[in-house]
Amino acid sequence: MIPSFGLHVPARILFGPGRFGELGELVPRVSGFCRKPLLVLGGSSFADSDRCQALLADFKRLSISPQIVHVTGEPSPTLIDGIVENPSITGRDLVIAIGGGSVLDGGKALAAMLVERAPVTRFLEGVGNQRPSGRKLPFIAVPTTAGTGSEATSNAVISSVGEKGFKRSLRHDRYMPDLALIDPVLTVSCPRPLTVACSMDCFTQLVESYLSSHGSPLTDALALDGIRAVYRSLEAVCRDGENLAARTDMAYGAMLSGMVLANAGLGAVHGFASAIGGFFAVPHGVVCGTLMAAVNRSTLASLRRSGASTEALDKYAMLGKICSPAADKSASWYQDHFIAELERLTGELAIPTLDAFGIGVADVAKIVDQTGNKYNPAPLAPEELTEILVSRLGH
Ligand SMILES: [Fe+2]
Repeated sequence: MIPSFGLHVPARILFGPGRFGELGELVPRVSGFCRKPLLVLGGSSFADSDRCQALLADFKRLSISPQIVHVTGEPSPTLIDGIVENPSITGRDLVIAIGGGSVLDGGKALAAMLVERAPVTRFLEGVGNQRPSGRKLPFIAVPTTAGTGSEATSNAVISSVGEKGFKRSLRHDRYMPDLALIDPVLTVSCPRPLTVACSMDCFTQLVESYLSSHGSPLTDALALDGIRAVYRSLEAVCRDGENLAARTDMAYGAMLSGMVLANAGLGAVHGFASAIGGFFAVPHGVVCGTLMAAVNRSTLASLRRSGASTEALDKYAMLGKICSPAADKSASWYQDHFIAELERLTGELAIPTLDAFGIGVADVAKIVDQTGNKYNPAPLAPEELTEILVSRLGH
Protein backbone atom coordinates (compact mmCIF):
# COMPACT_ATOMS: atom_id res chain seq x y z
CA MET A 1 0.00 0.00 0.00
CA ILE A 2 1.26 3.50 -0.78
CA PRO A 3 1.98 5.28 2.53
CA SER A 4 0.82 8.81 3.25
CA PHE A 5 3.26 11.56 2.32
CA GLY A 6 3.57 15.27 1.60
CA LEU A 7 5.68 17.14 -0.93
CA HIS A 8 7.03 20.69 -0.74
CA VAL A 9 8.39 22.07 -3.99
CA PRO A 10 8.97 25.59 -5.40
CA ALA A 11 5.75 27.36 -6.39
CA ARG A 12 7.05 27.52 -9.95
CA ILE A 13 9.93 25.88 -11.79
CA LEU A 14 11.08 26.99 -15.24
CA PHE A 15 13.77 24.76 -16.72
CA GLY A 16 15.67 24.73 -19.98
CA PRO A 17 18.62 26.11 -21.94
CA GLY A 18 18.15 29.81 -22.74
CA ARG A 19 15.41 30.49 -20.23
CA PHE A 20 17.51 33.00 -18.28
CA GLY A 21 16.46 35.59 -20.87
CA GLU A 22 12.92 35.44 -19.46
CA LEU A 23 13.94 36.61 -15.98
CA GLY A 24 13.27 40.34 -16.38
CA GLU A 25 9.71 39.82 -17.62
CA LEU A 26 9.07 37.22 -14.92
CA VAL A 27 9.98 39.41 -11.95
CA PRO A 28 6.74 41.40 -11.63
CA ARG A 29 4.62 38.37 -12.53
CA VAL A 30 6.13 36.11 -9.91
CA SER A 31 6.47 38.66 -7.14
CA GLY A 32 3.12 40.43 -7.25
CA PHE A 33 4.51 43.41 -9.16
CA CYS A 34 7.45 44.07 -6.88
CA ARG A 35 10.04 46.18 -8.66
CA LYS A 36 12.80 46.80 -6.12
CA PRO A 37 14.79 43.57 -5.90
CA LEU A 38 17.81 42.90 -3.80
CA LEU A 39 19.98 41.22 -6.42
CA VAL A 40 22.30 38.74 -4.70
CA LEU A 41 25.36 37.75 -6.76
CA GLY A 42 28.57 35.85 -6.06
CA GLY A 43 32.04 37.04 -6.99
CA SER A 44 32.75 38.99 -10.12
CA SER A 45 32.33 36.32 -12.83
CA PHE A 46 28.58 36.65 -13.37
CA ALA A 47 28.43 40.34 -12.47
CA ASP A 48 31.01 41.06 -15.21
CA SER A 49 29.26 38.99 -17.86
CA ASP A 50 27.30 40.18 -20.90
CA ARG A 51 24.41 38.12 -19.54
CA CYS A 52 24.30 40.23 -16.38
CA GLN A 53 24.49 43.45 -18.39
CA ALA A 54 21.58 42.25 -20.55
CA LEU A 55 19.55 41.50 -17.42
CA LEU A 56 20.26 44.95 -15.98
CA ALA A 57 19.20 46.49 -19.31
CA ASP A 58 15.95 44.48 -19.15
CA PHE A 59 15.40 45.69 -15.59
CA LYS A 60 15.88 49.30 -16.69
CA ARG A 61 13.42 48.90 -19.58
CA LEU A 62 10.86 47.39 -17.19
CA SER A 63 11.39 50.06 -14.48
CA ILE A 64 12.82 47.49 -12.08
CA SER A 65 15.40 49.01 -9.73
CA PRO A 66 17.82 46.40 -8.34
CA GLN A 67 20.30 46.88 -5.55
CA ILE A 68 23.26 44.51 -5.82
CA VAL A 69 24.96 42.72 -2.91
CA HIS A 70 27.60 40.01 -3.09
CA VAL A 71 27.89 36.72 -1.24
CA THR A 72 31.40 35.32 -1.61
CA GLY A 73 32.01 31.99 0.08
CA GLU A 74 29.53 30.20 2.29
CA PRO A 75 27.19 32.72 3.95
CA SER A 76 28.04 33.44 7.58
CA PRO A 77 25.83 35.04 10.24
CA THR A 78 28.08 38.12 10.10
CA LEU A 79 27.51 38.50 6.37
CA ILE A 80 23.72 38.06 6.54
CA ASP A 81 23.26 40.31 9.57
CA GLY A 82 25.58 42.93 8.05
CA ILE A 83 23.49 43.17 4.87
CA VAL A 84 20.19 43.23 6.79
CA GLU A 85 21.46 46.00 9.08
CA ASN A 86 23.09 48.03 6.29
CA PRO A 87 21.18 51.34 6.26
CA SER A 88 21.67 51.69 2.49
CA ILE A 89 19.58 48.51 1.91
CA THR A 90 16.15 50.08 2.06
CA GLY A 91 12.74 49.41 0.61
CA ARG A 92 13.62 46.10 -1.05
CA ASP A 93 10.46 44.16 -1.89
CA LEU A 94 11.87 40.92 -3.30
CA VAL A 95 15.15 38.99 -3.48
CA ILE A 96 16.70 37.49 -6.61
CA ALA A 97 19.78 35.29 -6.12
CA ILE A 98 21.89 34.33 -9.13
CA GLY A 99 24.86 32.10 -8.37
CA GLY A 100 26.07 28.86 -6.83
CA GLY A 101 24.63 27.17 -3.78
CA SER A 102 26.15 29.63 -1.32
CA VAL A 103 24.68 32.60 -3.18
CA LEU A 104 21.24 30.97 -3.32
CA ASP A 105 21.42 30.09 0.38
CA GLY A 106 22.51 33.66 1.15
CA GLY A 107 19.61 35.06 -0.89
CA LYS A 108 17.15 32.70 0.76
CA ALA A 109 18.33 33.75 4.23
CA LEU A 110 18.22 37.44 3.27
CA ALA A 111 14.64 37.13 1.94
CA ALA A 112 13.65 35.84 5.38
CA MET A 113 15.83 38.04 7.58
CA LEU A 114 14.87 41.28 5.80
CA VAL A 115 11.41 40.57 7.24
CA GLU A 116 12.38 39.00 10.59
CA ARG A 117 14.86 41.82 11.28
CA ALA A 118 16.77 39.85 13.91
CA PRO A 119 20.16 38.09 14.09
CA VAL A 120 20.03 34.97 11.93
CA THR A 121 21.70 32.74 14.56
CA ARG A 122 18.58 33.10 16.68
CA PHE A 123 16.70 30.93 14.15
CA LEU A 124 19.36 28.39 13.16
CA GLU A 125 18.67 24.74 13.90
CA GLY A 126 20.79 23.51 16.81
CA VAL A 127 22.17 27.01 17.47
CA GLY A 128 19.30 29.41 18.19
CA ASN A 129 16.20 28.91 20.28
CA GLN A 130 13.53 30.58 18.16
CA ARG A 131 11.47 29.11 15.33
CA PRO A 132 11.34 31.35 12.25
CA SER A 133 7.89 32.74 11.49
CA GLY A 134 8.15 31.77 7.82
CA ARG A 135 7.47 35.34 6.69
CA LYS A 136 9.79 36.45 3.90
CA LEU A 137 10.09 38.58 0.79
CA PRO A 138 9.29 36.89 -2.55
CA PHE A 139 12.38 34.93 -3.58
CA ILE A 140 13.65 33.93 -7.03
CA ALA A 141 16.53 31.43 -7.25
CA VAL A 142 18.69 31.17 -10.38
CA PRO A 143 21.49 28.59 -10.03
CA THR A 144 24.74 28.96 -11.99
CA THR A 145 26.13 25.63 -10.75
CA ALA A 146 24.53 22.19 -10.69
CA GLY A 147 25.09 21.01 -7.16
CA THR A 148 23.33 21.88 -3.93
CA GLY A 149 19.80 21.99 -5.35
CA SER A 150 19.18 25.03 -3.14
CA GLU A 151 16.84 26.32 -5.87
CA ALA A 152 14.38 23.63 -4.76
CA THR A 153 14.87 23.44 -0.98
CA SER A 154 13.30 25.17 2.00
CA ASN A 155 16.54 25.66 3.94
CA ALA A 156 19.58 27.93 3.77
CA VAL A 157 22.87 26.60 5.15
CA ILE A 158 24.69 29.19 7.24
CA SER A 159 28.32 28.58 8.21
CA SER A 160 30.59 29.84 10.90
CA VAL A 161 34.00 28.23 10.55
CA GLY A 162 36.35 27.73 13.52
CA GLU A 163 36.87 25.77 16.74
CA LYS A 164 33.34 26.62 17.85
CA GLY A 165 32.14 26.68 14.27
CA PHE A 166 28.90 25.32 12.89
CA LYS A 167 27.17 24.69 9.63
CA ARG A 168 23.46 24.79 10.30
CA SER A 169 20.20 25.40 8.51
CA LEU A 170 17.70 28.20 8.57
CA ARG A 171 14.61 26.27 7.64
CA HIS A 172 10.89 26.80 7.11
CA ASP A 173 8.50 25.22 4.60
CA ARG A 174 7.69 28.69 3.32
CA TYR A 175 11.33 29.39 2.46
CA MET A 176 10.91 27.36 -0.72
CA PRO A 177 11.68 29.72 -3.66
CA ASP A 178 8.67 31.31 -5.35
CA LEU A 179 10.42 30.71 -8.65
CA ALA A 180 13.33 28.42 -9.52
CA LEU A 181 14.64 29.48 -12.94
CA ILE A 182 17.10 26.85 -14.11
CA ASP A 183 19.06 27.52 -17.27
CA PRO A 184 21.81 24.90 -17.83
CA VAL A 185 23.64 27.33 -20.13
CA LEU A 186 24.58 29.35 -17.01
CA THR A 187 26.60 26.38 -15.71
CA VAL A 188 28.74 25.94 -18.86
CA SER A 189 31.47 28.30 -17.62
CA CYS A 190 31.73 26.57 -14.23
CA PRO A 191 35.43 25.52 -13.83
CA ARG A 192 36.27 21.82 -13.63
CA PRO A 193 37.15 21.50 -9.89
CA LEU A 194 33.87 23.20 -8.97
CA THR A 195 31.98 21.08 -11.51
CA VAL A 196 33.42 17.89 -9.97
CA ALA A 197 32.56 18.98 -6.42
CA CYS A 198 29.04 20.14 -7.33
CA SER A 199 28.36 16.98 -9.32
CA MET A 200 29.38 14.76 -6.41
CA ASP A 201 27.23 16.85 -4.06
CA CYS A 202 24.07 16.41 -6.10
CA PHE A 203 24.85 12.72 -6.77
CA THR A 204 25.23 12.20 -2.99
CA GLN A 205 22.03 14.09 -2.27
CA LEU A 206 20.04 12.00 -4.74
CA VAL A 207 21.43 8.70 -3.44
CA GLU A 208 21.00 9.65 0.23
CA SER A 209 17.42 10.84 -0.32
CA TYR A 210 16.61 7.65 -2.26
CA LEU A 211 18.01 5.49 0.55
CA SER A 212 16.55 7.70 3.31
CA SER A 213 14.41 6.08 5.96
CA HIS A 214 12.16 9.14 5.65
CA GLY A 215 11.38 8.94 1.91
CA SER A 216 8.14 8.34 0.03
CA PRO A 217 7.25 6.63 -3.28
CA LEU A 218 7.22 10.06 -4.89
CA THR A 219 10.67 11.12 -3.63
CA ASP A 220 11.99 7.67 -4.63
CA ALA A 221 10.71 8.17 -8.20
CA LEU A 222 12.17 11.67 -8.45
CA ALA A 223 15.49 10.57 -6.93
CA LEU A 224 15.84 7.66 -9.34
CA ASP A 225 15.21 9.89 -12.34
CA GLY A 226 17.85 12.29 -11.05
CA ILE A 227 20.33 9.47 -10.37
CA ARG A 228 19.93 8.17 -13.94
CA ALA A 229 20.54 11.65 -15.38
CA VAL A 230 23.53 12.35 -13.15
CA TYR A 231 25.14 8.95 -13.60
CA ARG A 232 24.98 9.10 -17.40
CA SER A 233 26.49 12.60 -17.55
CA LEU A 234 28.72 13.01 -14.50
CA GLU A 235 31.95 11.96 -16.16
CA ALA A 236 31.07 13.65 -19.45
CA VAL A 237 30.48 17.01 -17.79
CA CYS A 238 33.75 16.76 -15.86
CA ARG A 239 35.60 15.90 -19.10
CA ASP A 240 34.00 18.57 -21.26
CA GLY A 241 32.26 21.46 -19.53
CA GLU A 242 30.87 22.73 -22.84
CA ASN A 243 28.78 19.59 -23.36
CA LEU A 244 25.35 21.21 -23.03
CA ALA A 245 23.43 17.92 -23.02
CA ALA A 246 25.53 16.75 -20.06
CA ARG A 247 25.22 20.15 -18.35
CA THR A 248 21.43 19.90 -18.80
CA ASP A 249 21.37 16.43 -17.23
CA MET A 250 23.35 17.73 -14.25
CA ALA A 251 21.14 20.82 -13.82
CA TYR A 252 18.09 18.55 -13.90
CA GLY A 253 19.67 16.15 -11.39
CA ALA A 254 20.67 18.99 -9.08
CA MET A 255 17.15 20.43 -9.11
CA LEU A 256 15.70 17.00 -8.32
CA SER A 257 18.30 16.50 -5.57
CA GLY A 258 17.02 19.64 -3.87
CA MET A 259 13.41 18.54 -4.19
CA VAL A 260 14.06 15.11 -2.72
CA LEU A 261 16.40 16.21 0.07
CA ALA A 262 13.84 18.79 1.18
CA ASN A 263 11.22 16.06 1.47
CA ALA A 264 13.08 12.84 2.27
CA GLY A 265 16.13 14.09 4.16
CA LEU A 266 19.76 13.02 3.82
CA GLY A 267 22.16 10.46 5.30
CA ALA A 268 25.50 10.07 7.02
CA VAL A 269 27.61 11.67 4.27
CA HIS A 270 25.80 14.92 4.92
CA GLY A 271 26.04 14.25 8.65
CA PHE A 272 29.81 14.31 8.18
CA ALA A 273 29.63 17.33 5.87
CA SER A 274 27.76 19.35 8.45
CA ALA A 275 30.34 18.57 11.16
CA ILE A 276 33.45 18.96 8.97
CA GLY A 277 32.14 22.16 7.38
CA GLY A 278 31.88 23.75 10.82
CA PHE A 279 35.50 23.06 11.69
CA PHE A 280 37.27 23.36 8.34
CA ALA A 281 36.96 25.36 5.14
CA VAL A 282 36.53 22.36 2.84
CA PRO A 283 34.24 22.69 -0.20
CA HIS A 284 31.00 20.90 0.64
CA GLY A 285 31.00 18.89 -2.58
CA VAL A 286 34.55 17.65 -1.90
CA VAL A 287 33.50 16.33 1.52
CA CYS A 288 30.55 14.54 -0.12
CA GLY A 289 32.63 13.19 -2.98
CA THR A 290 35.49 11.94 -0.85
CA LEU A 291 33.24 10.20 1.70
CA MET A 292 30.44 8.88 -0.52
CA ALA A 293 31.96 5.51 -1.38
CA ALA A 294 33.24 4.77 2.14
CA VAL A 295 29.93 5.68 3.83
CA ASN A 296 27.92 3.57 1.40
CA ARG A 297 30.29 0.62 1.77
CA SER A 298 29.88 0.77 5.55
CA THR A 299 26.10 1.27 5.34
CA LEU A 300 25.68 -1.68 2.98
CA ALA A 301 27.77 -3.90 5.28
CA SER A 302 25.69 -2.82 8.27
CA LEU A 303 22.43 -3.54 6.43
CA ARG A 304 23.66 -6.99 5.48
CA ARG A 305 24.74 -7.76 9.05
CA SER A 306 21.55 -6.60 10.70
CA GLY A 307 19.05 -7.59 8.02
CA ALA A 308 17.01 -4.67 9.39
CA SER A 309 15.88 -3.21 6.07
CA THR A 310 15.35 -5.41 3.03
CA GLU A 311 13.90 -2.32 1.33
CA ALA A 312 17.24 -0.51 1.64
CA LEU A 313 19.10 -3.56 0.30
CA ASP A 314 16.67 -3.70 -2.65
CA LYS A 315 17.42 -0.03 -3.27
CA TYR A 316 21.17 -0.66 -3.28
CA ALA A 317 20.58 -3.36 -5.88
CA MET A 318 18.55 -0.89 -7.97
CA LEU A 319 21.41 1.62 -7.80
CA GLY A 320 23.80 -1.06 -9.04
CA LYS A 321 21.47 -1.83 -11.95
CA ILE A 322 21.45 1.83 -12.97
CA CYS A 323 25.26 1.73 -13.02
CA SER A 324 25.60 -1.51 -15.01
CA PRO A 325 24.57 -2.78 -18.44
CA ALA A 326 24.77 -6.35 -17.06
CA ALA A 327 21.50 -8.26 -16.81
CA ASP A 328 20.59 -11.30 -14.71
CA LYS A 329 23.11 -10.74 -11.93
CA SER A 330 22.23 -11.39 -8.28
CA ALA A 331 21.01 -8.63 -5.96
CA SER A 332 24.24 -8.77 -3.97
CA TRP A 333 26.30 -8.44 -7.17
CA TYR A 334 24.45 -5.23 -8.09
CA GLN A 335 24.85 -3.91 -4.53
CA ASP A 336 28.60 -4.52 -4.61
CA HIS A 337 28.82 -3.10 -8.11
CA PHE A 338 27.32 0.20 -6.95
CA ILE A 339 29.97 0.55 -4.24
CA ALA A 340 32.74 -0.39 -6.69
CA GLU A 341 31.42 2.20 -9.13
CA LEU A 342 31.48 4.90 -6.45
CA GLU A 343 35.09 3.98 -5.68
CA ARG A 344 36.01 4.05 -9.35
CA LEU A 345 34.45 7.52 -9.73
CA THR A 346 36.29 8.82 -6.65
CA GLY A 347 39.59 7.80 -8.25
CA GLU A 348 38.66 8.72 -11.83
CA LEU A 349 37.62 12.25 -10.82
CA ALA A 350 40.71 12.62 -8.56
CA ILE A 351 38.63 13.76 -5.60
CA PRO A 352 41.08 14.90 -2.90
CA THR A 353 41.33 13.25 0.51
CA LEU A 354 40.63 15.29 3.63
CA ASP A 355 44.29 15.80 4.63
CA ALA A 356 44.55 18.18 1.66
CA PHE A 357 42.46 20.59 3.75
CA GLY A 358 44.48 20.27 6.95
CA ILE A 359 42.37 17.53 8.55
CA GLY A 360 44.41 14.96 10.48
CA VAL A 361 44.00 12.00 12.83
CA ALA A 362 43.84 14.36 15.82
CA ASP A 363 40.63 15.87 14.42
CA VAL A 364 38.74 12.62 13.94
CA ALA A 365 37.19 12.34 17.43
CA LYS A 366 35.72 15.83 17.44
CA ILE A 367 34.29 15.39 13.94
CA VAL A 368 32.73 12.01 14.80
CA ASP A 369 31.31 13.53 17.99
CA GLN A 370 29.47 16.15 15.91
CA THR A 371 28.36 13.78 13.12
CA GLY A 372 24.74 12.68 12.95
CA ASN A 373 23.38 9.79 10.90
CA LYS A 374 20.37 11.86 9.76
CA TYR A 375 18.11 9.42 7.83
CA ASN A 376 20.84 6.94 6.89
CA PRO A 377 19.12 3.57 6.25
CA ALA A 378 21.48 1.93 8.80
CA PRO A 379 22.70 4.09 11.67
CA LEU A 380 26.50 3.95 11.78
CA ALA A 381 28.21 3.59 15.16
CA PRO A 382 31.00 5.99 16.23
CA GLU A 383 33.57 3.26 15.51
CA GLU A 384 32.26 2.91 11.94
CA LEU A 385 32.23 6.69 11.45
CA THR A 386 35.82 6.80 12.75
CA GLU A 387 36.92 4.08 10.35
CA ILE A 388 35.31 5.88 7.40
CA LEU A 389 36.97 9.17 8.25
CA VAL A 390 40.42 7.64 8.81
CA SER A 391 40.16 5.88 5.44
CA ARG A 392 39.87 9.29 3.74
CA LEU A 393 42.74 11.09 5.45
CA GLY A 394 45.24 10.09 2.79
CA HIS A 395 48.67 8.66 3.50
FE1 LIG B 1 24.90 18.64 -0.15
